Amino acid sequence: MLRLAVLVSGGGTNLQAIIDGIESGKIRDTEIALVISNKEGAYALKCAEKAGIDALCISPKAYDSGEAYDQAMIEEIDQRGVGLVVLAGFLVVLSEEFTKHYAGKIINIHPSLIPSFCGNGYYGLRVHEEVLKRGVKVTGATVHFVDAGTDTGPIILQKPVAVERDDTPEILQRRVMEEAEWLILPEVIDAIAHDRVRIEDKIAYVI
Ligand code: GAR
Repeated sequence: MLRLAVLVSGGGTNLQAIIDGIESGKIRDTEIALVISNKEGAYALKCAEKAGIDALCISPKAYDSGEAYDQAMIEEIDQRGVGLVVLAGFLVVLSEEFTKHYAGKIINIHPSLIPSFCGNGYYGLRVHEEVLKRGVKVTGATVHFVDAGTDTGPIILQKPVAVERDDTPEILQRRVMEEAEWLILPEVIDAIAHDRVRIEDKIAYVI
């Protein structure tokens, strides 16, 4: 059984997609051991509570340094025998120590086709605002392993989504979630639970 720690900051729709995926059998042999939010009152915490999942708020504001904050999270995660950390809309930048500690065992969902519209400053709605500003016709979502950089780790799975002429950032965000994020994140978790994801020379493959 693969045990997950899901880290969240806000809406929790990707967390909900994981919960639903486990319930429906799309994600097999997997359970959520813990949800951590950096924000008090995040809707994602309510989703976790409703599903009867252990959920904590660990705020960076309560710690003197990023390292101390990350260490507090590591302690909570490691107590629970977690095999995979999932960043599901987690908007805090993690230390190199944290990403090294979970090397090959930490994934992120990003709302664009990496390497476009990613890196520092590209998160949440901002990604879709930039996509519309640039006028690209295809965007999408990416699930990737997390390394010490921002959105630089090996890409596991991507799905394209069309940009429509009348899109607002909010409409586009929703379409990217519905047509890509909520599908590929559960798919990757199921693949990892069944040992179907490999990394060779920094390139990830689903086999
Ligand atoms: C999602 O679109 C996710 O891809 C994005 O934040 C949103 C969170 O929504 N993540 C990033 O931008 C990370 N760089 P959710 O809380 O409803 O899952």
